[in-house]
Amino acid sequence: VTFHLETRDGTRREITGAAGISAMEAIRASGCDEIAATCGGSCSCATCHVYLRKAAPEFLPPISPTEEDLLDFAEDRTEQSRLSCQVILRPELDGMEITVAPASA
Ligand code: FES
Repeated sequence: VTFHLETRDGTRREITGAAGISAMEAIRASGCDEIAATCGGSCSCATCHVYLRKAAPEFLPPISPTEEDLLDFAEDRTEQSRLSCQVILRPELDGMEITVAPASA
């Protein structure tokens, strides 16, 4: 699964990750350290906040109540906000665009 990542400094890069892993894991594996993922992907820190574009909503896992709560606390939440550890890659998401959210204080 290949997607585009835009980092905080505006750099765009292409990232490929295996289906079944999370976008957070794929981003970190690519060497991008802007996603701290302090909780290791257990949906409890919100340091993996990103904005998703061009992702078909029907292929995204639904936002769980826990993710919803965390996003509510996240700064700069938008309609496109997701926690990247909860976005599981699948072939249908090929070509999506992910922007790293601004760092939370
Ligand atoms: Fe902690 Fe996603 S890595 S919520």
